[in-house]
Amino acid sequence: MNSSPLPLPVIALTLFAAGCTSPHPAEPASPAGTFASVRPVLETNCVHCHGKTRLAQMPAFTDTAALARLKGTWIIPGHPERSRLFQVVTLTDEQPGAMPPTGHAIAKADVEKIRAWIQAGAPLPERAPIPLQPTGDRPHSW
Ligand code: HEC
Repeated sequence: MNSSPLPLPVIALTLFAAGCTSPHPAEPASPAGTFASVRPVLETNCVHCHGKTRLAQMPAFTDTAALARLKGTWIIPGHPERSRLFQVVTLTDEQPGAMPPTGHAIAKADVEKIRAWIQAGAPLPERAPIPLQPTGDRPHSW
């Protein structure tokens, strides 16, 4: 007569336990020191000024090949404290040369990502150049 199906909550719970432990798994953070960890920092905070259209004296952050060419001048692999690209993000808004130059220092966690990347030798992917794109989710409207 009655086939007595499992109550709905039991089915839902079983599917949930079998399928995933969290309905909204957090985006895995890229390990410190990798290019993947530093890429969003540059794309959010720097590339819209340091892209294809920029002043001649500005280092280009257009793609990974351009970043590779900064090694030895703006980036001293293994030595963030000697790297201008790191120094400028540690300056306070009031100090000349601070980057971004618009009075909005980047987050401490992002400064640390740049430091760790240069400390690790500023590794870059070896395959064809990966373009850097300015992202729309900048914390400030520059
Ligand atoms: C609002 C536009 C703007 C943004 C955003 C910006 N820059 Fe710059 N950047 C400039 C300009 C303009 C110069 C040239 C300044 C000069 O020559 O005095 C410059 C110069 C530099 C230099 C050379 C500094 C020097 O001492 O000669 C470095 C390194 C640099 N930027 C890194 C960065 C980094 C890293 C970021 C992101 C955290 C960033 N910039 C974000 C506009 C910008």
